Amino acid sequence: MTQDELKKQVAQAALTEIADSLHDDVIIGVGTGSTVNFFIDALAQYKNRFRGVVASSEASADRLKKHGIELFDLNEVSSLEVYIDGADEASPTLDLIKGGGAALTREKIVAAASKKFICIADDSKTVEILGGFALPIEVIPMARSYVARQIVQLGGNPIYREAVLTDNGNVILDVHGLKITDPKALETTLNNIAGIVTNGLFALRGADLLLIATRQGVQRFEA
Ligand code: 5RP
Repeated sequence: MTQDELKKQVAQAALTEIADSLHDDVIIGVGTGSTVNFFIDALAQYKNRFRGVVASSEASADRLKKHGIELFDLNEVSSLEVYIDGADEASPTLDLIKGGGAALTREKIVAAASKKFICIADDSKTVEILGGFALPIEVIPMARSYVARQIVQLGGNPIYREAVLTDNGNVILDVHGLKITDPKALETTLNNIAGIVTNGLFALRGADLLLIATRQGVQRFEA
């Protein structure tokens, strides 16, 4: 099985997971990335069974639109039934690193606004301790050097992601060399540094259900 086949398999598993809860009034959140793209393509067959989607990025919004799935602004929506998104790293404790696609801020907002967060990934993303994947941090452009110095004091090695601007007009620092043994504490510390808009740790609001595709089938990890 190729990695794409694993992504497709886990996307289909997420669809099966939510299929019974889809009805006319339901709006769901949809994240960003190649795994989520498979989910969007699979979701299209159910587009007449639910009301629409809040997307976490312009890229996902474009793909949803092409399938004729109705898009909503989060400000128009009072409740999101479920949020489906991928991850760059996932631990068995349902803590995640996200932001490889630079969509972390909107992803964190949509995840926060959703009743349930289902994370989908292939088994190359699972780790015991987060930090092998450089932690993305979205930063207000004028604060880039200041934030980088604060990160160095925390033991990280921040690398500026060249030529990338987020959907919110900010820049990304990818922080290498962190061994994240207490994701909630680090997420809180980073949240308190002036100039950081969002850090890519999803631990304070981690996944409620993690679906991992393996060659032996899809594994479930639940909160
Ligand atoms: C984007 C993300 C993605 O969920 C993450 O990068 C995983 O992407 P992929 O499914 O392509 O591996 O956080 O900001």
